[in-house]
Amino acid sequence: MRLVEVPLGNRSYVIKIGGGLLSRLGVECARLKLGQRCAVITDTNVGKKYARAALKSLAASGFDPVLLTVPAGEKSKRMAMVEQCYDRLAAHRLERKSFLVALGGGVVGDLAGFVAATYLRGIPFVQAPTTLLAQVDSSVGGKTGVNLQAGKNLVGAFYQPRLVLCDLDTFQTLPKREFVSGLAEVIKYGIIYDAVLFAQLERNLPRLLQRDAALLASVVARCCEIKAEVVGQDETESGLRAILNFGHTIGHAIENSSGYGKFLHGEAIAIGQVAAAKLSREILGLPSGDVARIEKVFAQAGLPVAFKANPARRKKLFAAMQLDKKVSGGEVKFVLAERLGRVKFGCQVPTELVARVVT
Ligand SMILES: NC(=O)c1ccc[n+]([C@@H]2O[C@H](COP(=O)([O-])OP(=O)(O)OC[C@H]3O[C@@H](n4cnc5c(N)ncnc54)[C@H](O)[C@@H]3O)[C@@H](O)[C@H]2O)c1
Ligand SMILES: [Zn+2]
Repeated sequence: MRLVEVPLGNRSYVIKIGGGLLSRLGVECARLKLGQRCAVITDTNVGKKYARAALKSLAASGFDPVLLTVPAGEKSKRMAMVEQCYDRLAAHRLERKSFLVALGGGVVGDLAGFVAATYLRGIPFVQAPTTLLAQVDSSVGGKTGVNLQAGKNLVGAFYQPRLVLCDLDTFQTLPKREFVSGLAEVIKYGIIYDAVLFAQLERNLPRLLQRDAALLASVVARCCEIKAEVVGQDETESGLRAILNFGHTIGHAIENSSGYGKFLHGEAIAIGQVAAAKLSREILGLPSGDVARIEKVFAQAGLPVAFKANPARRKKLFAAMQLDKKVSGGEVKFVLAERLGRVKFGCQVPTELVARVVT
């Protein structure tokens, strides 16, 4: 088992990474000295496969868990679902010392984290992420929240978990498209922070795609270390944390403008990262050879690297970027790479240039 510490003073916590960890959920929660009553929030897909093991482990350690299962998919990340969860928690008489376990991907983690942040003004919660994206990204760092009609993640709270338990065995049932989509975030860490990781990914991509257990353990741990280091320095995104958004300005616009569901998040940000690499070449002088390496690694992972934009789609894409700008209250700012492993945030880019790289 690998351990990564997220250094946040008295809210610090550990990420545990390894095989078979779900069966240790109860023991790990007992170590945290949490209350006896608890709830496991999961979705219909993950629940079918892993709820029983999670509940059994909790019960074996003397906890009294209740299971809340929400429909799988982004639609569950909404206020109506939050309210349903509150009602179930109240019915099960969860009190201040009780805790929640988020068992699932980023949707369940964001939803359950927000419920934990707000029920009784905050009860402890544990992340048990089951997608690659959730293990390397969404379960770490304390961003929780739900969507509104008006847009994604518009309501939420920074609220840190007490523990993150990454059971690598859960990848065995993860659909290929979801796994590959998570790789887009993994590759991102190499580009923004660690040229050695990037080179390792280039070399070992076939083994990674076969979900080699030892390789995954080291790669997931390295990604968590990077996220922990960044979040440890800038928990609430007043600066450095923005580097995690490399490829996301264009990626989000692609997701928004093509209707949710067409592109998975990882697919959209793969295109966004290749576009950001090209912008980096124009603006910060990122060598063409590095741009080519970035494009190649995404393509070899089986991720899309370009957006086939007819004029109508292009118009929608730019409208989505403008909307993003309004929401963020000002300019559209980009994260760009100076070289592999080193990026700058807050870069301004002329719209014509963006139009040129999104083809
Ligand atoms: N909080 C953050 O910092 C942060 C960061 C990135 C993304 N997010 C959020 O994460 C969400 C996306 O997360 P995601 O990609 O994990 O999607 P997801 O939670 O929807 O999971 C993807 C699909 O895989 C299924 N699934 C999950 N684990 C499985 C397993 N082990 N075996 C079989 N099926 C499994 C799910 O039921 C779902 O159908 C978005 O809502 C996004 O906004 C949050
Ligand atoms: Zn992302």
